[in-house]
Order: sequence, then structure tokens, then C-alpha cells
Amino acid sequence: TILLLDFGSQTSHLILRCLRSLNIYAEMLPCTTKIADLTWKPKGVILSGGPASVYDEAAPHADPAVFDLGVPILGICYGCQEIAWRANSANVAAGEAREYGHADVTIKKVEGADHVNKLFQGLGEEMHVYMSHFDKLVKLPEGFTILASTPNSEFAGIAHETKPVFGVQFHPEVEHTPRGVELFKNFAVDICGARQHWVMSDFIQHEIQRIRKLVGPKAQVIGAVSGGVDSTVAARLMTEAIGDRFHAVLVDNGVMRLNECQQVKETLEKHLGINLTVIDGADLFLSRLKGLTEPEAKRKVIGSTFIDLFEEEAIRIEKAAENTPNAGKVEYFLQGTLYPDVIESLSFKGPSATIKTHHNVGGLPARMMNGQGLKLIEPLRELFKDEVREFGRQLGIHEDLVMRHPFPGPGIAIRIIGEVTPERVAIARKADHIFISMIREAGIYNEMSQAYAGLDTNRAVGVMGDARVYGYIIILRAVTTTNFMTAEPYEFKFDLLKKIARRIVNEVDGVARVTYDITSKPPGTIELE
Ligand code: XMP
Repeated sequence: TILLLDFGSQTSHLILRCLRSLNIYAEMLPCTTKIADLTWKPKGVILSGGPASVYDEAAPHADPAVFDLGVPILGICYGCQEIAWRANSANVAAGEAREYGHADVTIKKVEGADHVNKLFQGLGEEMHVYMSHFDKLVKLPEGFTILASTPNSEFAGIAHETKPVFGVQFHPEVEHTPRGVELFKNFAVDICGARQHWVMSDFIQHEIQRIRKLVGPKAQVIGAVSGGVDSTVAARLMTEAIGDRFHAVLVDNGVMRLNECQQVKETLEKHLGINLTVIDGADLFLSRLKGLTEPEAKRKVIGSTFIDLFEEEAIRIEKAAENTPNAGKVEYFLQGTLYPDVIESLSFKGPSATIKTHHNVGGLPARMMNGQGLKLIEPLRELFKDEVREFGRQLGIHEDLVMRHPFPGPGIAIRIIGEVTPERVAIARKADHIFISMIREAGIYNEMSQAYAGLDTNRAVGVMGDARVYGYIIILRAVTTTNFMTAEPYEFKFDLLKKIARRIVNEVDGVARVTYDITSKPPGTIELE
């Protein structure tokens, strides 16, 4: 196991992901962790980046015992400055300008010192890297040698001449450092001697143990499920850990897809043995949506109605548990938050940057937590989508669910431009069902990341038989994306698109036209609202 000490960088989790991709297990702990409190000895230590300045009085510092462990250490950005500052506080100072973005580092081979050359081994003479720092090393710490430089940062990579202590100013963990993973491999495998035998099932066992310990023998946990892969994986994991003391709640908000509620109920209850309650809120949601046309207003009403129903259910669960032998309070709230959700919510914070009240991070728990004193459990918080899918497979979740496209919390409501009415929902639902079924039949469902049929509440004229019709416009949307922050329209065979359009106009009453949205994101978004 590698110990990752986190100094608060937004990319610290990416270090874990890089190591996991090499089948190496690492544990991330706060930078202030005391080595004496560890019950295990790490094979190596990585010090992450962070937003502070090492020379500030309030700056966080690693336990000095880290440096006495005798295991290899790699400092990244702030972590590198921490190493230099520890040698001599005059080694680090503010730079003249923030260095932010791509840089090419020149790798220097140190003659007769193979042990220090190991870090950049196999990476050639130049490496494309990503820099993001203001402070920098202004002096080479005593006993260290230079491994890599850029015109701007003479000490972009350093190593101690005799001890296995390394530092890099750039961020090898981000995508923009394309060969960063190789650097981690050099460090973890060749320098630390870590074994590459970590597998997803280890992570699952580890999480189950952690959850059991955290929740204890009595407390109850509730969590909302949607039928999507994230909440299903989280719910299945929780069930494995604490059985029926986990209560999954599915709220039918009236804007789900055709037969979705029944299908989710069947899968979660029957196939996955999850203790599930379905709340029928369709009429309440639709009545509260009446008259609303503004997208954010729609989202807010759906969010708050959801919490109203969810809170009622939490109270009911607790009451019902009172009469059982292992009655315990509902103390925890499960969320299937993934790492990209965490990042997106962070970067979307602040009045100017709120593009959409996205995802469930933030809003939902805030009221639940404050109102009821619930504590949050987020077992998938470190994982990326592809990892959660793998996780799901290991938990025995069916491939169709594992590969399911994401579906937003506000459902069809943000796929109808303008006011949501039961009639419009029914139309969009039917058109969507035809669209998705035809995509599945064509065997191309997994080629796209998300697809749906939305509805424009303006109407257009058409002719059917000999009659003039005046009906809604269906907007088909299908995109490919890796991270949902940018997306491209999926390139359908035109013939298939025409067939889809024909079926929708023929089979869905009230539709006069079908269009295909070919806007990229940006400037468009994936959902219509
Ligand atoms: P956009 O439309 O912003 O969507 O390009 C990016 C991804 O986020 C999903 N999305 C949401 N998910 N609540 C959610 O739970 C929302 O309000 C919401 N808005 C967008 C969207 O489906 C896509 O996967």
C-alpha cells in the first residue's frame, strides 16, 4: 500500500486513480495524519499538491516522522515544495507569475546515479506535462540533484542524491500529463516495490468493512435510488454491508421514462435483494410543476418536492424500526456521488459560475443533514464512471443496468422546453421509448453516452393523410462524451434517423415533426434545459 497524504489539491483523487489503473492500492489520508496512528507501514509516501503556501504560518505540514519512515517519498507540486521547505525554509518562494498550463520538461540523466534516474526512466528526454503553481523552488535543497527542468522552473523534478526522496513541480496525475501514469509506475513499482495486485473486489471488501465499522450494529441508513448505475451500485454495496438496515427509496416524480418505476422496482427488489420503498409522488410533482416554464424553477420545485417526500419516508422508516429487535435511529444518508460529480460541484460553486443546479451534491443533503442530523456516506466518491461500472459487474449487477445511460434527476421535465403538463410528459415518454428501443435494436446503444427524445412545446404544421395537423416538435438528442463536460452529437446513419422519425410521427399522437439536435456541448448542453 502506498500512503497518499492529501494537502487539499482538487486533483489528489486522480493520484489514486492513476495508481488503481496500475493495480496498486493506495490510501489517501489527511496531510496532518500522524504516522504513529497508522496500523500499517506504507511501501512509499506521496505528498499531494495543495492550495496553501508552505511558508505561510497557517500552512499544513506533514508529520516529520514521514521522513523517518525510511520508505521512498514523492512530493507533487505543494508536496515537492514541502520537501524543499523542510530542508530549508528559504528554498521556496512566490514566483513572479503563476505558471499554469502545458510545459515541456527536459529530463536530465544524472551520471552514475541509476537510483535517482529511475523516476523518469523510459520517459525519453522530454516530457509533456501540466503545471499549475505560483510558489516555486528558488534553490535546490542541499543534497538534492535536478532531474527535470523547464525554462520557467529550473527545479521541475528533483531527487535526493542518496535517499529515495523525489519531487516534481508538475502534476503527473492529470490527463494533460499524458505519460504521468508511467511516472507513477516508476515510483510505485520500481522505486517503492509496490505490488500490482490490487483488484476491484479488494476495494469492495474494503468498503464493506469500512461501512460496517462506521454504521455500527444498530443504526439505519437511507438512500435515494433512481435505477441508474451509481445509486444502484451504492445501494447494492450497502445491502451487502448491512442488509435490511439499509432502506432504499425510489420516488416516482411523474417525469420518469416509460415503465421505469416498475422496472427499477423489479431489478432492485427481486434481482438485487435491496430493501426498497417506492413512493408515488407523480400527482404531487406534476401539480407543483404546473405553470412553471423557467428551467431553474422547474429543477428547484422537483428538488424540494423530492426532499419533502423523502423526509416523510425517513421518519416513517425510523418509526417502523422502533418495533423491531435491532431498532436503531436513521443516522446515515447514502449518496452515490462519483468523483467527477464532486469536482463539477466544486467548480460550479459561486454565484457567477452556477450554470445549473447540477447533480445531487450539495442541495439535497444540506437540508436532509441539517434538518435531521444525518451523516453522509459516499462509498463511490473516489471512483470514476468506468470504475463504478466495473464495481457493478463485480456486485452481480446486470450488464444492461451497468451500461445504462445517465438520466437526470429532474427527468423528462428538463427535456420539455417550457411548461410540463401530463399530456406533454406522455408524448415525450412515448417518443423517447421508440427512439431508445430503435437504438437498442440497431445495436448502437453503447456507442453513445446519452440519448433521449425531448419535446418542444411550440407546435408546427404537418399533413397526415389528407388532413392538416398541428402538433408538437420532438427533438432527438444523442451524444458521445467521456466526461459529460463536453460532448459531440452522435453520427447516426441517416436512414435510421428517417425510420425513427417516421415511427414517432406515426405512432405518437400530437407530434407533427421530428428533428435531430446536432449541437455540440459547448455551446449546447446535453439536456434541453
Ligand atoms: P448538461 O445538460 O449540463 O448535462 O450538459 C450533463 C450531464 O448532467 C446531467 N444533468 C443532471 N443530472 N440533475 C441531475 O441529476 C440535473 O439537474 C441535471 N442536469 C443535467 C445530464 O443528464 C448529463 O448527463
